[in-house]
Amino acid sequence: MDVILWEWLSFFVRWTHVIAGIAWIGSSFYFVHLDQSLKSRDGLPEKAHGEEWQVHGGGFYHMVKYLEAPPQLPEHVTWFKWEAYATWLSGAVLLAIIYYFGADLYLIDRSVLDISQWQAIALSVAGIGLAWIAYDRLCKSPLGKSDLQLAIAGFVFLVAMSWAYTLVFSGRGAFMQMGAVMGTLMVANVFFIIIPNQRRVVADLVAGRTPDGALGAAGKQRSLHNNYLTLPVVFVMIANHYPLAFATRYSWLILALVMLMGVSIRHFYNTRHRGLPSPWWTWIVTVLCGVAVVGLSSVGPSGSSAQTAAPVEVTELASAAEAIIQGRCSMCHAAEPFWPGIGTPPKGVRLDTAQDIASHAEAIRVTAILTHSMPPGNVTEITAEERAAVAAWIANLK
Ligand code: HEC
Repeated sequence: MDVILWEWLSFFVRWTHVIAGIAWIGSSFYFVHLDQSLKSRDGLPEKAHGEEWQVHGGGFYHMVKYLEAPPQLPEHVTWFKWEAYATWLSGAVLLAIIYYFGADLYLIDRSVLDISQWQAIALSVAGIGLAWIAYDRLCKSPLGKSDLQLAIAGFVFLVAMSWAYTLVFSGRGAFMQMGAVMGTLMVANVFFIIIPNQRRVVADLVAGRTPDGALGAAGKQRSLHNNYLTLPVVFVMIANHYPLAFATRYSWLILALVMLMGVSIRHFYNTRHRGLPSPWWTWIVTVLCGVAVVGLSSVGPSGSSAQTAAPVEVTELASAAEAIIQGRCSMCHAAEPFWPGIGTPPKGVRLDTAQDIASHAEAIRVTAILTHSMPPGNVTEITAEERAAVAAWIANLK
């Protein structure tokens, strides 16, 4: 397909995905907050569990929650589910456009594992499906009776998977695969557990039967998981613009720490909105994890051992680096790239003249020295010695 059309297709799908995601996360944050701020008082309507007054958009809202059916059921009830489904559907299309069609650039790194495009796609799709089955079993196992034990098991499960994917995909591919896995767990929770259970509870209430309490409890447990997964998922989705997050040696550990940050931040707000004393200590955990993330990202790219460039004259450094960049980068990063499927210089970064190369020295350092996110999947097979020569040139600029 024409490169321009393809670029715009990917842009419009991404736009849809971000908007759907905002709508979903926005409504879920809203309801978590509402649920936790409900207050009970004498004189509430019959069977009401709690109420909350809110002001927004020039008016007052009086929200009342019923855990049992209210004496009179309304004719119309709004269900919140399409935000989640639309986020997943647009995300699946985006994953296919960028990571499956562009598997050679974004999903596969042949120095990690030499697999074909179809093998990579199959591993990714099967991995997402299997992750759901394993997670769902875990929740339904005896372990699921304790929220805390289940959360610890779920965390270990996700971290182990993050690590395993760094042995299968490129750093960027492994990260996005985890984003797809976690996002799918969240949407599948809505689709397979939360909404169907809710429907059964409503049907029972309408029929005057007492609903099985386990249905509501399971839905609540899955909602809790979704609540804690939200922040890490958003991190992964934007991390693909930050090679230090996904293309360094301990990227899987970085993700693990980000999950903990997500949990500690959510715990702070969940507690605060319940009207309990704010657990300020959670910010210490968050900051410590953040500092550890920064430290881990500076360890260097995966698979790298310290390389030193062959000694060369200082004056030769620049011309050596230029030749390497032109040989390994400018087939994509040129005014008119000749790499198939690349129509314009990616991210506007041109590396075809000595001046372009010099003015991008810092960006080259981040993408090709501190991390190995460029060339993507090392498609142009830059060698460790060449990277070291480029590093020597950049070090000499300072
Ligand atoms: C096969 C094509 C290809 C090759 C070869 C390649 N790049 Fe890239 N480069 C890309 C693409 C595609 C992107 C945009 C990635 C994205 O969408 O996040 C990019 C982005 C970049 C960016 C911008 C990163 C950002 O997020 O702003 C820099 C800097 C960069 N490349 C440097 C290099 C260097 C240095 C080399 C050679 C060592 C190189 N690239 C080789 C395709 C290539």
